[in-house]
Amino acid sequence: MDLRRWRTAAVATLIAAGTLVTPQAHAQKPDLALTPPMGFNNWNSTHCRNDFNEDMVKGIADIFVTKGLKDAGYEYVNIDDCWALPERDVNGDLVPHPTRFPHGIKAVADYVHSKGLKFGIYTSAGTKTCENNGGFPGGLGHEEQDAKLFASWGVDYLKYDNCNNQGVDAKYRYTKMRDALNATGREIVFSLCEWGENKPWEWAKDVGHLWRTTGDITDSWSSMLSIAKRNMELADFAGPGHWNDPDMLEVGNGGMTDVEYRSHFSLWSIMAAPLLIGADLRKVTPETFEILENREVIAVNQDELGLQGKVIRNEGGTHVLVKPLSNGDRAVLLFNENDSATTASVTAQELGLTTATGYKIRDLWARTTTHTAGSISAALPPHGSAMYRVSKANDWYRYPPAVAAGASGELLYPGALPIAQPGKPLTYTTSVTNSGRLPVSLVQASLTVPAGWTVKATTPSFAAVLAGQKTFTTTWQVNVPAGAAPGKFPVGAHFTFHSPHENNPVTRQSSAEVLVPGAAPKGENFVSDLKWLRSTNGWGPVEVDATNGETAAGDGGPITIRGEVFAKGLGTHAPAHVEYYAGNACSKVTATIGIDDRKVNAQSLVSYQVWADATKVYDSGPVSGADAAKSLEATVSGATVVRLVVLDGGNGNTNDHADWGDLKITC
Ligand code: GLA
Repeated sequence: MDLRRWRTAAVATLIAAGTLVTPQAHAQKPDLALTPPMGFNNWNSTHCRNDFNEDMVKGIADIFVTKGLKDAGYEYVNIDDCWALPERDVNGDLVPHPTRFPHGIKAVADYVHSKGLKFGIYTSAGTKTCENNGGFPGGLGHEEQDAKLFASWGVDYLKYDNCNNQGVDAKYRYTKMRDALNATGREIVFSLCEWGENKPWEWAKDVGHLWRTTGDITDSWSSMLSIAKRNMELADFAGPGHWNDPDMLEVGNGGMTDVEYRSHFSLWSIMAAPLLIGADLRKVTPETFEILENREVIAVNQDELGLQGKVIRNEGGTHVLVKPLSNGDRAVLLFNENDSATTASVTAQELGLTTATGYKIRDLWARTTTHTAGSISAALPPHGSAMYRVSKANDWYRYPPAVAAGASGELLYPGALPIAQPGKPLTYTTSVTNSGRLPVSLVQASLTVPAGWTVKATTPSFAAVLAGQKTFTTTWQVNVPAGAAPGKFPVGAHFTFHSPHENNPVTRQSSAEVLVPGAAPKGENFVSDLKWLRSTNGWGPVEVDATNGETAAGDGGPITIRGEVFAKGLGTHAPAHVEYYAGNACSKVTATIGIDDRKVNAQSLVSYQVWADATKVYDSGPVSGADAAKSLEATVSGATVVRLVVLDGGNGNTNDHADWGDLKITC
């Protein structure tokens, strides 16, 4: 063992044994981060790639100024893991990576400061950082020395990670660094990055200005969604100077659509989350800037009252979040997590606004202002959201009535993927809701379908007058030809109406995709040989003919339940949901189910379900790692879609590696 390693190990042992002095009990600087920090961090776009370097950091600082992001409130330009060399120098100091930062870190910090911005850095509350090739030296046992070095470089923000923590108590580790930062006399925002492992929301209010509430975000809808939902539950713990941090933004990195990125940004904003841009702004689209620079949305995030918006309702994935604002207004987010379009509503009363004859609603994305008598409705596309600022207004009549117009197709079950089967008619409903006090007139709805399909309204599609607080719906029959090709097709709705405040007719459009599946399976099939319609999984992807390995596809190894190895099957991780098209042609699903042998421990507890459309046809009850493999047989006759579901057993989803060995469907 070389001297350096020996020292690291010795420090860790001393700390673990509790022989080091307990940190002093002075609080962090409370007047920092009175609103959620805003800025940039390179991690989500570069990880440790070579394009993470001095040029990037300076380039981002330039763009903050030239593109108006600084004026919009973005302030911190932060660097993440991999800025240093793997070894400390002879004095025990961290050394900037000479190729990435040839002029050192201070030079970069100076540059950032010269633009009127602030500079942030990263290290870990462990012996090494997280980077998987071994990382660079962490801060554990070096708190004072590293804090002093950071302060001497002009650091304004420290993200302090959790890797290689040697099992030392988290409170101890983070408090130690807080005190070291305070002792430098420099104002440094302190960001705890322990992934919510030790419930920092319960103890870190006086330790850091923000704390991560979850594991790492990735640039995918499912990752963003699961993190958002976890963070929603913690609203009570956030406030000025102490924020829940659901991780940095992915907006602009390319793995989600702009509709999804708008939802991501709206969620983070209403949840009073830190807004740290995670995309390389030198390469993003104009739409990305438009999202990140929406000042009305940012104003909700930065409102000085500092409340985290709360979920007041979640109906099958349609969420209503409300954030009271300092001037008495309410910000509200209507958010649709599902793959199908929907309509969401909320009343002023539910928002906690006292009775008034009218309310003004500012649509923060459409940038329009309308009035309502008291309710707010929005047509939400799949994964879409609508965000409003709602105020009581005596002059409500100055604004046009709020009108929501949208379309949705019939679904097999709430939250189902919209499916069109060749030769089977489909029902769509369009609706126009006037939430105002004044009528609108000459309302016309129409529906457009893919070429070769036909559509007809089975109820009137025109209304001469639509009074305030009324909804006009039209039912449509869509005929899908027997020979319809498989694929995804758009079904669009178009609306026009006359509003008392506008000279020209108002138009509204919406469009959502419907899936025509390929042919239903025939005979007996290994399910893992079929193509699923969609899948979600608790960690990493659902694995085909392998068990779940938590990250990349194919990283899990063979499915093994109590010593028996299965060549065929699926490897899932709770919560998981895998759907197959059965087209009313299949009769049963069979499998051998159980926790994979590699993850048998006290935490592995799940339940398995099989659904035929909206009907649950199998429920395993609790399955733990101690249980023998179980035989599953489920009748799925008549199902259009067969759904394989794994739920966490109620103790969190750690180690919930649920195998489906020898999984077959008979058709
Ligand atoms: C951890 C953190 C990430 C990032 C990486 C860097 O995974 O949670 O945000 O900082 O380390 O290695």
